[in-house]
Amino acid sequence: MTESQRPLEGQVAIVTGASRGIGRAIAETLAANGARVACIASRVENAEAAASACAALTDGARPFGVDVADTAAVKELVAEIVKDMGGLNLLVNNAGITKDQILMRMQEDDFDRVIDVNLKGTWNFVQAATRTLMKSSGRIVNISSVVGVTGNAGQVNYAASKAGVIGLTKSVAKELAGRGVTCNAIAPGFIETDMTAAIEDKAREELMAAIPLKRIGAATEIAAAVEFLVGPAGGYITGQTLVIDGGLSL
Ligand code: NAI
Repeated sequence: MTESQRPLEGQVAIVTGASRGIGRAIAETLAANGARVACIASRVENAEAAASACAALTDGARPFGVDVADTAAVKELVAEIVKDMGGLNLLVNNAGITKDQILMRMQEDDFDRVIDVNLKGTWNFVQAATRTLMKSSGRIVNISSVVGVTGNAGQVNYAASKAGVIGLTKSVAKELAGRGVTCNAIAPGFIETDMTAAIEDKAREELMAAIPLKRIGAATEIAAAVEFLVGPAGGYITGQTLVIDGGLSL
């Protein structure tokens, strides 16, 4: 792609959880399309490698650190990014955690933290960015999960947080459509990242057997869907949840 052809040239994007995995693939894909990407991780030093990789593809990529669950800190950071990077057009809420346990053994702290990072973290960024996104007719993509659609034993906290992200997405889409802002969710299935590397071999085999396409997804396959939703072809899509799971939920 030449500079003049790049569809996101001149746009500023925030990607949370950009240090690795799906978020890193999303950040690099947006950068390859010409966006200036604010790469966010829990700590700034964790986002530096991602920002350097993006900077090799586009001008003005920068690393930032914040706990997405910290409402005041997120508000401050979004204001700083808008000021320093010259606005905001794209927001991708990707940061997420799991703290799996069967219902009867799940601790209150583990329930609260997963909701705080995955659901409230998404709300924190959407709320802090809304005013600026209304001015730029921006695009929001929230990374949910297929288990937010289907539920999953051992993931009451995580599935509730990801179902919450879908409800939030639909409501934001309705609220902001009048200002030209779109808001969609992506619900990945089993994607090869650090998050899924911890799954034991036996569970992995069972999961593979349940996936009609018989393979694990790649982070780049989620990034490609984000690229579509925030690019010129995605402008008439809002409030939707795109399930990308190799047919797992069929
Ligand atoms: P990962 O564990 O490899 O990366 C998570 C990212 O989120 C990291 O950059 C980490 O620094 C960041 N993060 C975590 N807590 C944070 C906090 N409190 N504040 C700021 N940043 C924080 O995860 P992966 O696999 O790349 O997942 C990305 C998203 O996709 C998550 O929301 C996850 O729930 C979702 N997802 C992943 C699937 C998979 O199979 N890998 C399947 C379905 C959804």
